[in-house]
Amino acid sequence: SMERSIRPSDLEHYIGQEELKKNLKVFIKAAKERHEPLDHVLLYGPPGLGKTTLAMIIAGEMGAQIRTTSGPALERPGDLAAVLSSLEPGDVLFIDEIHRLSRHVEEVLYPAMEDFCMDIVIGKDDTAHSVRLNLPPFTLVGATTRAGYLSPPLRDRFGVISRLQFYSPDELSQIVRRTASVLNAEIRDDACKEIAGRSRGTPRIANRLLKRIRDFAQIETGGIIDKETARMGLTRLQVDEAGLDRVDHQLLEGMIHKFGGGPVGLDTLAAAIGEERHTIEDVHEPFLLQNGFIQRTPRGRVVTDLAYRHFHIERND
Ligand code: ADE
Repeated sequence: SMERSIRPSDLEHYIGQEELKKNLKVFIKAAKERHEPLDHVLLYGPPGLGKTTLAMIIAGEMGAQIRTTSGPALERPGDLAAVLSSLEPGDVLFIDEIHRLSRHVEEVLYPAMEDFCMDIVIGKDDTAHSVRLNLPPFTLVGATTRAGYLSPPLRDRFGVISRLQFYSPDELSQIVRRTASVLNAEIRDDACKEIAGRSRGTPRIANRLLKRIRDFAQIETGGIIDKETARMGLTRLQVDEAGLDRVDHQLLEGMIHKFGGGPVGLDTLAAAIGEERHTIEDVHEPFLLQNGFIQRTPRGRVVTDLAYRHFHIERND
């Protein structure tokens, strides 16, 4: 259909991740020229940066179908065997949260990735024997928040390993403009910039904020999203000037007031503010680290001077 979606459907319309895009174009073109499936691709990086979108685009660019599943959904080896045996030649198999596969399921994946085959055990006890089934050639696209969570043998079986980067304010601004156009929402340029600058480098956050600010514009300020409406909406959504949200605030202020600015261990901190350790690690920490609000030391996390200044708190040590 001609309908444009919030997710771009090809690399041409995908904004940002320029290095990755440039390389992927080459790898895709080369594989197509050889009439082979693309090598297996591992995408890692913080949530919301476009790993799922890229998997869908890779399938589209290869002219292939995508089959989507996730680490937690593949509970037993048989679950993966069922997915693998239903693949068609050239399919892209997307496994989200691939770091959450169990060891037994991973072991089914190794020969499937390496030799496009699967060993099935038939019978029981002394009549048990294994039969090798051939699979059609396919491309596995795996996504995870951290490459370090993957077992080395699994990581080694990917031919392309790419880390997604946070987006620049300018890239996010283009994404907000594009999404507003897909949503038929009228938005001013300075409003795009305002939302972009407060979205923690993350398209998913930018698009979510845009939708909510569109609601404020529609109901309270006459429909057009201008800078003033954007700023009002962001305040109501408890997003501060740097894009930090409620949880970021709890984290940083918790570190300052309960632990004297640190160092503090992640589990201690998680318990103190009532958040999951993994949510802090995967969702909140990467941006706070990259933007200099916290630092990692061998003895735990510490709050930086920048964070103290951000909250207008005097450091008293
Ligand atoms: N929407 C979400 N992420 C996007 C991206 N990287 N490019 C274009 N539109 C997007």
